[in-house]
Amino acid sequence: MNVAGTHRRASAFLCIAAALAAALVAGGARAGGAQAAPGGIPQLRKQGTATQLVVGGEPFLIRGGELGNSTASSPDDMRAAWPRLEALRLNTVVAPVYWELVEPEEGRFDFRMVDSLVADARRHDMRVVLLWFGSWKNSMSSYAPAWVKTNQAKYPRTEATKGQGQEILSPFSDANAAADARAFAALMRHLRAVDGTRHTVLMVQVENEIGMIPEARDHSSAADSLFARPVPNALFSYLAAHYDSLAPEMRAKFPTVGDSRAPLSWEKLFGADVHTDELFMAWHFARYTERVAAAGKAEYPLPMYANAALIRPGYLPGRYVSAGPLPHLIDVWRAAAPSLDFISPDIYFPNVAEWAAKYARSGNPLFIPEARLTPQAGVDALYAFGRHDAIGYSPFAIEGANPEQGGGAALERSYALLAQLAPLIARHQGRGSMTGVMPPVAFDGTVDDAPQRVALQGAGYTLTVSFANPPGPPTTAPPGTPAGQEGPVSFSPGMPGATLPAAPAAAPRPSTPRGGIIIALAPDEFLIAGTGLVVTFTPNGPGDPLAGILSSHEGRFVDGRWVTERRMNGDQTHQGRHVSLGPGEYSMQRVRLYRYR
Ligand code: DGJ
Repeated sequence: MNVAGTHRRASAFLCIAAALAAALVAGGARAGGAQAAPGGIPQLRKQGTATQLVVGGEPFLIRGGELGNSTASSPDDMRAAWPRLEALRLNTVVAPVYWELVEPEEGRFDFRMVDSLVADARRHDMRVVLLWFGSWKNSMSSYAPAWVKTNQAKYPRTEATKGQGQEILSPFSDANAAADARAFAALMRHLRAVDGTRHTVLMVQVENEIGMIPEARDHSSAADSLFARPVPNALFSYLAAHYDSLAPEMRAKFPTVGDSRAPLSWEKLFGADVHTDELFMAWHFARYTERVAAAGKAEYPLPMYANAALIRPGYLPGRYVSAGPLPHLIDVWRAAAPSLDFISPDIYFPNVAEWAAKYARSGNPLFIPEARLTPQAGVDALYAFGRHDAIGYSPFAIEGANPEQGGGAALERSYALLAQLAPLIARHQGRGSMTGVMPPVAFDGTVDDAPQRVALQGAGYTLTVSFANPPGPPTTAPPGTPAGQEGPVSFSPGMPGATLPAAPAAAPRPSTPRGGIIIALAPDEFLIAGTGLVVTFTPNGPGDPLAGILSSHEGRFVDGRWVTERRMNGDQTHQGRHVSLGPGEYSMQRVRLYRYR
């Protein structure tokens, strides 16, 4: 091995890295001066019922994608990834920072990888969400540095039943928490120095998919002795004070309020079962995460969150990665980790609507940092923003997506719509004047494509949305056949949104993703964006009882201004009966209505 050569190369790299960090800092100072860019540090702000991510004073919708775990460690892989991320129309890359690489020796930090990620993101006009792969990654501690892994006496682990060792750092260890918090604080201090004015980095995820498996609880002696002690007063009083707004699962575990119930042990207060084991671990994982997050926020207070692996139906704690930031544990996480701004789901299951709704409960802003990249992802993204005022959406292993095919193509088309719609969506967030629609899919893949009614704030009409089927044989239906009862709808190529009613024969279940966003622009005007939708209208309140289409235009937004591309009528509106967006393509229409009798 040529040690001298290696050393020379390493020194040269360090010089380049120092220059890069200096350039990042200088670039930041030029752009904003002192610490303040226009609008200041990325932050969360309420608008109506929504929580928006505000960047440079403006709401920012994350059209994201998360890198595969090891890509950011390879300059070659990253070089290859950027053009693809751009072609997919991302505005944000979600990328890990690995504790083992940024603190290879205790107290010696090396942030070259972070610097080059930030510099490249700027060059490609993109923002970054960083993932702190610290003490825990998918429950395990594989990203702990070697000096932590090899010193188990100082940095203890959890134990599964029967004293089995696990490569999971103990959340009960002060040394573990202190080491992680010190490293995370160093990262945030560095980010402030290199990005405190440019704000390329928007948010930070603290740890990754924390949790216990294959037992719900650690059985080390440290855990056992804390488990026998009373439930901490801080948790008890939080649950009592927030009783009315607790998640239903939590309320069922904490059925009555009364100080007389404290201080009881975990099992006395909550019952002796695996759910109590999970609550106990959730509290301690969240306290530890709070210590890490708070240390980072003290250096540079970017929005921070924690993410969770989700649960298959019927699985009990221990069978899934338990005690993480899951919706049934949100109250424990909120009580224990006030430095986290929200919790997030990694949605790899088909029941996206169900999990999105669970994470949008009780004011938790929805950010989906990981999702399966299938053709459904394009619709899921629109749905998350439209229905739940999401902060962002971000499929996993994004650098492997092909913008021309499959999930990549669907995402690219959906993100192209979202890029145009972003200012409009931001204006309507939290006001009840916007929603997302798609047929809900169950965990087993069953699609419920029953028509959905949409009532929006400020709208003079109620909408009925049916989900168009893929191409089928065109036939006719009697005039006046209600939308959703005409049978499959046919679309011919080159005829955007063309619809012809078809025979109501048993059609195969459509598998083309369908869904989108609907916004009430005025009492008689709607913007409908997405794919595979057929929409009819009914007037609200007294007056003439029927709704007609005055005009429907297909078009796009250019620099925030609407540009009409096509007047839709005739076959494209089923002779004035409905508005339709063809499946398999992403489009938008602006519709004006009138009433008649
Ligand atoms: C969820 C994790 O959070 C990711 O880092 C990655 O491991 C994926 N699972 C792989 O499917």
